[in-house]
Amino acid sequence: MTSTNDVRRSFLEYFEKNGHARVASAPLVPHNDPTLMFVNAGMVPFKNVFTGLETRPYVTATSSQKCVRAGGKHNDLDNVGYTARHHTFFEMLGNFSFGDYFKDRAIELAWNLLTKEWELSPDRLTATVYHTDEEAFGLWKKIAGLPESRIIRIPTKDNFWAMGDDGPCGPCSEIFYDHGESVPGGPPGSPDEDGDRFTEVWNLVFMQFEQAAGEIVSELPRKSIDTGMGLERISAVLQGTTDNYETDTFRALIRESEALTHTKAEGENKASHRVIADHLRASGFLVSDGVLPANEGRGYVLRRIMRRAMRHAQLLGAREPLMYRLVPALVAEMGAAYPELVRAQPLIEATLQQEELRFRQTLVTGLKLLDEASEGLPKGGTLSGETAFKLYDTYGFPYDLTEDALRSRGLEVDRSAFDAAMAEQKAKARAAWKGSGAKANEEIWFDLVEEHGATEFTGYSGDEGEGVVLAIVKDGLRVERAEIGETVDILLNQTPFYGESGGQIGDTGKLTTLKSFVGEVEDTSKQLGKLHVLRTKVVKGELSVGETVHQRVDAERRDRVRANHSATHLLHAALRRQLGTHVTQKGSLVAPDYFRFDFSHPKALARDEIDAVEAEVNAQIRSNETVTTRLMTPDDAIAAGAMALFGEKYGDEVRVLSMGQFDEGDYSVELCGGTHVRALGDIQLLKITSESAVSSGVRRIEALSGEAARLWLNERDSRLREAAATLKSAPDEVPARVAALVEDRKRLERELADARKALAMGGGTAKSEGPATEDVGGHKFIGQVVEGFDPKGLRAAVDDMKKRLGSGIGALIAVNEGRASVAVGVTDDLAGQVSAVELVKAAVATLGGQGGGGRPDMAQGGGPDGAKAHEALEAVRDALEKVAA
Ligand code: ALA
Repeated sequence: MTSTNDVRRSFLEYFEKNGHARVASAPLVPHNDPTLMFVNAGMVPFKNVFTGLETRPYVTATSSQKCVRAGGKHNDLDNVGYTARHHTFFEMLGNFSFGDYFKDRAIELAWNLLTKEWELSPDRLTATVYHTDEEAFGLWKKIAGLPESRIIRIPTKDNFWAMGDDGPCGPCSEIFYDHGESVPGGPPGSPDEDGDRFTEVWNLVFMQFEQAAGEIVSELPRKSIDTGMGLERISAVLQGTTDNYETDTFRALIRESEALTHTKAEGENKASHRVIADHLRASGFLVSDGVLPANEGRGYVLRRIMRRAMRHAQLLGAREPLMYRLVPALVAEMGAAYPELVRAQPLIEATLQQEELRFRQTLVTGLKLLDEASEGLPKGGTLSGETAFKLYDTYGFPYDLTEDALRSRGLEVDRSAFDAAMAEQKAKARAAWKGSGAKANEEIWFDLVEEHGATEFTGYSGDEGEGVVLAIVKDGLRVERAEIGETVDILLNQTPFYGESGGQIGDTGKLTTLKSFVGEVEDTSKQLGKLHVLRTKVVKGELSVGETVHQRVDAERRDRVRANHSATHLLHAALRRQLGTHVTQKGSLVAPDYFRFDFSHPKALARDEIDAVEAEVNAQIRSNETVTTRLMTPDDAIAAGAMALFGEKYGDEVRVLSMGQFDEGDYSVELCGGTHVRALGDIQLLKITSESAVSSGVRRIEALSGEAARLWLNERDSRLREAAATLKSAPDEVPARVAALVEDRKRLERELADARKALAMGGGTAKSEGPATEDVGGHKFIGQVVEGFDPKGLRAAVDDMKKRLGSGIGALIAVNEGRASVAVGVTDDLAGQVSAVELVKAAVATLGGQGGGGRPDMAQGGGPDGAKAHEALEAVRDALEKVAA
């Protein structure tokens, strides 16, 4: 038997042999098309090559492309499990010509592969052509030798292929395989064409046109070829079955779900096993391409797929989460062809397990409600929309899951009542919001959330991508267009630009369109927690609502932000380890050039504490461990040890970031919506640059990472070298040299003070009066004016005078930079007769000062008029005479 893996390999080898470049599958989330939810055909990654916007180094190519058809134009979800050939995830084998060969070569290549390489009997093959395509009709006759009876003209859009409402398209020709008379069904175009006898295996699209909004708008620059062959279908044909679920890959997956649920894929269980196998593939591949379950957008489609499978697991009687246990089988089957699956295996398992645990909490109660509400409904009856809404709102049943649950019993759901209930809930939310006193200018964002839902943030996995302009807001009003010179707020359906939140500042970058528009994104904010709004200055051309723009985040700046954000997590963990678990985050700012982190702690950090924290963080950085992200409910996350911010509102789902290793466990686990490094080594280096108080009990650390940290250290180093040069010493010796200089200076100051004092006491200079003892009013008196004398030494000098006098009065006036300080001392024996305070006051008044005071034996004061120092001394003498008289 030819295995599915062999079929894929031989297809690619065949086209490679025929001159085609082998191109790896693009990720399921389209990078080049914001109008498309998931890649739904092999040609999607080449869309811009067909339209001529992009050139590649090859003109023919072949690929096996991962596709998901669930949500959007091609949606197969509802049928999966109940038919032989519907899938949410499938692989499309294709060969492409970008203006190289056209219809004839395409038909020839296809025919030869089927009939020569794979040896399918030509008698089993039938082709269809678009009813007006005579050329293709003739080529099938000529090249393949098909009789006219087996070339069928089809007038419907089945034979005109388009990727979506926008993009390249053209008439097509399909190849059918006839399984033979034993299988019921008729040829394409016949009334019983839906039977299994004729299987469409290959679609050759003759790409000729481009359409916009469903209308053909132009011819492609070059006629091209796009073909698509479902790998699952052709494998079924080559393995001799009409049923894709009977091929080797599916059988392996189903065998595993049979084993784990102890049920057989037979009877009423058959559909459940098929749903599980199919949805396992879709879930695994979507998660490995960066989609995680959410309540909006792509994440919601994934959630619908996952929960549909989980309900079927429940139907099979699984008591514990099942889906994650099937992942190893999926990886065994498909991991060799798609290494991303192997890499993401832990994430896929964790995501499936969490989702199933969580859904199970309400699944049983929800199903009971559903049973009760639908009990007694006749076949063909309708379940009320209110019940479906309650299941959705309270029990997390996506609408299509309720439909699926009723399907086997032939029941329907009242969709319009469901929609009405949904609308009413939104109206209530709005009323509640209006009553909350929020600012009026936020109303515009509320309108936009209601109209468009939340923005899909694509920036966790990349920093570039396209988006459709949903709204332009200028000065708080919605406008249709933004013109050159204007600064506007732009809302896009999806964006890699991070909107400021959780302490991480908003992204900046560039927007361009294929026309001439260029906009500089100066900041990105997050409105109402849901909308990413790009504050943009139009620097070239203009932009209108509805246009597609290419978005490019300033990646270098974002990388620095990433490093700083991850560093705050490590810092938080290190602080808790070094200081204690009372440390909790009180705020943070994550900017490209630095970050700061506020936390609760009662006192300043000692130097050795700062050093220990810094050392621990840097050890984690050097470990270069991969950073992992999981999606959980807040409760589960906290149970798993995540640090959550008290009082912070978290949604139904939180991202949980784990980084580093410590004692076999994660070093840091935190709830965080920010963008982070892939591995800790990307932070490079952490340097704490300051530690200070914010308020009582709250400290702040400022720090740098990466190149900024290195530059800071460099700067410090060069200052040290400058100091060393000034000291004429080596940098290492600077501390000792500085300490010695400080000691020297202290000694010199002491010596200088002593010298001045000696001068004051011992003998005059031109600038000072001699210290001769006088007789004033019958008392011994020494009075002196000195310059450059430290006023701090006055008291000591006056005490010396008192000692010298034995009995008497000493007055000393020191003039420094124009000001004068005065001290007067009276020996104890004169207590009661002469007061130093009185004498000082007389001097102070003359010096233009105020007051002056102290005790009767020693008083001090001062004044601004240093020039009147001698007059002041005279005033002291006068006052003394008066006292004595
Ligand atoms: N793009 C074509 C298809 O998807 C081949 O059928």
